Parts: sequence; C-alpha cells; structure tokens
Amino acid sequence: MTGQPRHVHDSRATATTRTGRLEGKVALITGGSGGQGLAGADLFAREGAAVVLADVIDAPGRACAARMRTEGLRALYVHLDVASLSSWQRALARIRRDFGGLHVLVNGAGVISRFGIVDTPMTEWSRVLDVNLTGPLLGMRLAAPLIRDSGGGSIVNISSTGGLVGNWDVSYVASKWGLRGITKTAALEFLDWGIRANSVHPAQVSGTGITADAVPGYAEANARVIPFGRLARPDEVMQAVLFLASDESSYITGSEIVVDCGYTSIALARVRRQLQREHAAQHVATAAKPANSATAGTRRRAKAVVKREE
Ligand SMILES: NC(=O)c1ccc[n+]([C@@H]2O[C@H](COP(=O)([O-])OP(=O)(O)OC[C@H]3O[C@@H](n4cnc5c(N)ncnc54)[C@H](O)[C@@H]3O)[C@@H](O)[C@H]2O)c1
Repeated sequence: MTGQPRHVHDSRATATTRTGRLEGKVALITGGSGGQGLAGADLFAREGAAVVLADVIDAPGRACAARMRTEGLRALYVHLDVASLSSWQRALARIRRDFGGLHVLVNGAGVISRFGIVDTPMTEWSRVLDVNLTGPLLGMRLAAPLIRDSGGGSIVNISSTGGLVGNWDVSYVASKWGLRGITKTAALEFLDWGIRANSVHPAQVSGTGITADAVPGYAEANARVIPFGRLARPDEVMQAVLFLASDESSYITGSEIVVDCGYTSIALARVRRQLQREHAAQHVATAAKPANSATAGTRRRAKAVVKREE
C-alpha cells in the first residue's frame, strides 16, 4: 500500500490522568480477563468508576483488580459464566452487596469459531451463540432492573464489524448481528428506565485472545486492507465504550459506534485503487516488451493511471 498517513502512529495511550468521567458509577465489564476487558477496566477505574471485572478465566481479571486496588482504585473480580443464569444472579448479588448498585454494563465476553455454514459443528454454533448472544441477553435481563433501581445508566454491547458486514465465521457473524439487533430492543425496552443501550463494532484488535490464533498471512493481509495498516489497540476500542458509558453520550441510544479506522466504509475503495494501480503498472511493463498484446489505447490509459497515482 501507499505510505501510511502521518496521524496513524501507534504510540501507547498516555491518558492516565483521572478526569472523573465515570465518577460515582459502578461498572460491570464481562470478558474482564480478555484484552479489551482488561484495558477497559483500567480506563474506567481511572475515570472514577468502581469496576467489576467478570470472566470464566479468573487469573488475569483477578490480578488486574488486585493491582488496581493497590493503586487506590475501586475494583473487584467476580467469576461469571455469561451463558448461565445462576452465574449472573450470583455476580449481581455480589455487586449489589459490595457496591450497592450498578450503572454501567459492558457485555464484552466473547468467543469465536472459524467455520462456515456447511462445515460448522452444531456444538460450535450453540457455544458461540450461548456466549455471544444469550450471554448479553441474560446480562441485560438481570442487570437492567438493578441499573434502573440505581438511578439509570448505560449498556454497551461489544458486537463487531462482523455484525455489520459479511464474514466467513457463520456462528460469530450470527451472534454479532444478533447482538446488534437486540441492542435496539434494549434501547426501546429500557428507555423509560433511564437506561441507554448502544453497540460498539471493532474490527481486529491486537493483544486479544480472539486475534491470537490468526492463520498465516492474516497479519499481512490486514496490513494491506486496513486503512491505517495496523490492528486497533484494546484501549482505542475502550475509549468509545467509555464515551458510551459516560454521561457525555446522554443523547445517544440505539446507536452503533464503529471502531475500525474505515475498514467497513473506505477500505474497499482504497484496495480497488491499489489493485487498479498494480494492474496498470503491469500493463505498462507488458507494453515495454517488444511482443505484447496490449493495444495502444490500453497502454496510454494504463500509463495515465500510473502517472496519476505517482
Ligand atoms: N479481538 C478482536 O479482534 C475483536 C474484534 C471485534 C469484536 N471483538 C469482540 O470484543 C469482545 C472482547 O473480546 P477481546 O477482543 O478482548 O478478546 P479476548 O478473547 O481477549 O477476550 C474475551 C474474553 O471473554 C471471556 N469469555 C469467554 N467465554 C465466556 C463466558 N462464558 N463467560 C464470561 N467470559 C467469557 C474469555 O475468557 C476472554 O477473557 C468480544 O465480544 C469479541 O467478540 C473482538
């Protein structure tokens, strides 16, 4: 691809100062031991929230909560299998007991299964839908009354660009399109309870379990297709989640924030231009040879394209 724009550098986020954007709020983040959950917990706590990390893999979330407490931040880890009703009941009872209420629910727990329609085992289909779709449904069903009783708040469902466009992984796509859809139902149903509901749609995010098992060539293909030429950092997605969780987004419900640096909106035009340029360059190279089949008109047009792109 062409040289990257200067403003897309990958420097680490430096926003560690506390500005109180979530002051006084209690926030529950599922998938709290994952790449984005850990980044979100840190960000939320530094913005003044009491943060509850929840996951089925305990060690990273528990360690993160413990570290944050040593820094004077309010944090708790709870074991939560989002696909289990009783697990949600236990986690929410603990939150009510320890923090007295809840204002923000981030449904971030997620799994992926890389099969298509013909070859997906039905056990995989069920597993992905249980975690990615039934999980947030149960979470909203049980947490919304607590959020209402706590004075209202915000639900943020982490969908994906796979919930906006086509993708190969059928169970994942079904779950993320479904999650995008039920977020609208939540926005409707909880409107009178003072609860906003929105979805966030990241493309590929670095430092996460979901991108860890990438097949050979995945990173190289992404570098060519993604306009910034790199994956998102977890904190870059969580900044959008923070905005939706905070009162700064008080007029936003039933909406979607796409965090993909143009992957779904401008990547096609960009890649097409690149392919066109490569094709044109090939024509020019062919025309330079003594025996060639390119017509004079084609050669002229190809040269013009190459010249325009230079
Ligand atoms: N990583 C990406 O490229 C990407 C892109 C788009 C959307 N997403 C979505 O972002 C969300 C966060 O994922 P991530 O990127 O941090 O990946 P991750 O794999 O690092 O984190 C996902 C977390 O969910 C947890 N989890 C799985 N099943 C669970 C269950 N039954 N109950 C509770 N927790 C469970 C996992 O243990 C893990 O800690 C997911 O919903 C994912 O689908 C990720």
